Amino acid sequence: MISVKHLSKLYRTPIKGKNFLLDLFFRKYKTIQALSDVSFEIGHNELIGFIGPNGAGKTTTLKILAGILYPTSGEVRVLNYIPFEKKSDFLKQISFIMGQRNQLLWDLPAYDTFTLNKEIYDVDESSFKKIVDELSSILHCRHLLQKPVKSLSLGERMKMELIAGLIHQPKIIFFDEPTIGLDIFSQKIIRDFIKTYQEEYKATIMLTSHYMEDVKELAKRLIIINKGTILYDGKLETIIQKYSRIKTIKITLEDKIDEEILSAIKEPLSCTFPQVVYQVEKSELPKIMNFINEKLPYSDLTVEEESIEEIIRSFFKESR
Ligand SMILES: Nc1ncnc2c1ncn2[C@@H]1O[C@H](COP(=O)(O)OP(=O)(O)O)[C@@H](O)[C@H]1O
Ligand SMILES: [Mg+2]
Repeated sequence: MISVKHLSKLYRTPIKGKNFLLDLFFRKYKTIQALSDVSFEIGHNELIGFIGPNGAGKTTTLKILAGILYPTSGEVRVLNYIPFEKKSDFLKQISFIMGQRNQLLWDLPAYDTFTLNKEIYDVDESSFKKIVDELSSILHCRHLLQKPVKSLSLGERMKMELIAGLIHQPKIIFFDEPTIGLDIFSQKIIRDFIKTYQEEYKATIMLTSHYMEDVKELAKRLIIINKGTILYDGKLETIIQKYSRIKTIKITLEDKIDEEILSAIKEPLSCTFPQVVYQVEKSELPKIMNFINEKLPYSDLTVEEESIEEIIRSFFKESR
C-alpha cells in the first residue's frame, strides 16, 4: 500500500539579514535536513504508530505520502501512485487529517463542509448519506451536525473534522496528532473511533501522536523516528519487552505484618496497611515473587508494567 525507499527531504529557508535590499538581491539560505534515507513498507489494513520527538520529521513524512510536499530524493509510492503527481484517483483514496488544523467552514454547520467534500470527491448521494449517518452514530454526534462549527467545543469539532475527512471513504488515512489538545475523555472517544473505523472499513492508517496511550491502544507496529532517521520499525510489544525494566507489585495484605518482614523481602516503595507496593527490576521479579508467596498472606496481588511513556523514554535514552 505504501512503499518508501531512501527518502530524503531538505527544506531551504531564507535567512533574514538586517538590510531588506541586500536580502532581496543576495538572499542567503540555510538548508534543514528534515528526513534522511527513510525507508519502510506498509501493508493493507495495517495501523502504524509513527512516533518521535518534536521536529523528528513525522509531519514532513506524512505530507510527502499525502502528496502535499515533494521529496528531495528517494522513491515514494502510495497505492502505486507517485503522491506528488496528485492524480485525482489517488487523492480520492487517501485522507490527511490533522488535529490542529481546521478544514471545517467556521461560521457554517459542519454538514455544509461535508456537502462540499461530497462534491469535491464526487461521492454519490446515497453513499454520502450512509457514511455521514454511520460515522455520526459511532461518534454520537448527530445533534451537532447542523450547529455552526464555531459554537462547538474542541472535542466536538474534532469529531466533525474526522467525518469531513472520511466522507470519501479513503483507503489510506494519515492522522497527524488527531488528539492533540483534547481532554482525556475526548481523546479516548477519538482513539476508539479510529480503532472502530480501521476495523470496519479496512483502512490502512499511519498515526502520529504525542500521547503514547493512543499508540499503545491502537498500533501493533511502531515506527520511531528521530532527527529524520528511522530508529526502530517493528512490534510495539518488542519495545515493551526490551525496555520495560521496572515492575510494580501491588499487594493487598490479609493481616498486619511486621515491617521487618516486609523490608526483608525488599524495601517497599510504600506501605500503608493493607497496601504494600514494591518496585523491582524485571530480573529480580521471580525471586521476589517467591519470597512474597512464602512470607506474605495477601488477598490480592498485581504486577504492573511501566507506563508506555517511561518505556519510550528509556528507548530514546539508549539509542542516543
Ligand atoms: N516549512 C518548513 N520550512 C523549513 N523547515 C521546516 C518546515 N517544516 C518543518 N521544518 C523542519 O523540519 C524538521 C522536521 O519537522 P516536522 O516534520 O514538522 O517534525 P515533527 O512533525 O516530527 O514534529 C524540523 O527541524 C522542522 O523545524
Ligand atoms: Mg508534526
